[in-house]
Amino acid sequence: MATYTYGGCIEQSYRINWKIKDVLGSLEFDLDRPWLPAALSGGGGVFCLNPEEKKKLTQVEMGAYSHLFAFVETFIAPLMADLALDSQGVNGEAFEALTNFASEEVKHIHLFREVARRVDVKLGFPLKLVTGQIEVAHAVLSKNKGAVLLLTSAIEWFTQHHYLSSMSQSDELDPLTREIFRCHWMEEAQHARLDHLEALRLFKDMTTVERHEAIEDLIWLLVAVDGLLEQQAVLDVANLSRHLDRAFTDQEWNEILAGLLRAKRHCFIESGVTHPNFLELFLSVTTSAQQARVQGAVALLLQKSPFH
Ligand SMILES: [Fe+2]
Ligand SMILES: [Fe+2]
Repeated sequence: MATYTYGGCIEQSYRINWKIKDVLGSLEFDLDRPWLPAALSGGGGVFCLNPEEKKKLTQVEMGAYSHLFAFVETFIAPLMADLALDSQGVNGEAFEALTNFASEEVKHIHLFREVARRVDVKLGFPLKLVTGQIEVAHAVLSKNKGAVLLLTSAIEWFTQHHYLSSMSQSDELDPLTREIFRCHWMEEAQHARLDHLEALRLFKDMTTVERHEAIEDLIWLLVAVDGLLEQQAVLDVANLSRHLDRAFTDQEWNEILAGLLRAKRHCFIESGVTHPNFLELFLSVTTSAQQARVQGAVALLLQKSPFH
């Protein structure tokens, strides 16, 4: 069972705390290397792309991958600032850990903004990326806070999984990409623990009606995430077409889109909601009927056709 503490998180966070200029350092993105590992790319099962084109696909996918982190951090930072107020004057360590958490997410937004700028410079054209993060943040923050925390927990645990399982040991991966996600991984480790502590705190005092609302809102949030992934997958195909300077037939376009969407759903939904540390939290705050309801909704999303 998890034994996280607010004090432990803030201590570890101060030990790690990096500066953006140190992360980006003197390295440049290398166009001869993949920018995302195969496990996170949609190119694997796509027959209409050759190996060189699949490598270029990872380059536009990484631009979208890092942008989607900045996108969700736009609601995570104010959520943490809001939760910190609950602890002000009540639990000093929680207040400090959560305000620091909010500040780290603001730093990550700045990091990923600079990453996006450098990606555009290296590719030689501006990547098309989903917009509307402020409007989405408002909509997300109007939902049950326990639901938003569960979604945030799933996201922050998958940052751990992605880096450890496919980036940390890859010799082939672009070194700057690996460094960016190594640094993000280190700070996110505390965030995921704080999500766990805060979700337990909120769910403990919820009525049955509020818990029901939290589960319905979690499903709404997962569907909203999926909507963003669908939009970005379409933009990724357009970005790839430009990067390759190649027009796709309708059949090729559809094949690439299906591969991208499958990979994005795996990255941003499936690898989060199946992470064992997320499940430990989720199972401890829900009934078996609620678990089945969420698992059923996730299963529907994962098998949804991109062409509806
Ligand atoms: Fe972050
Ligand atoms: Fe985070």
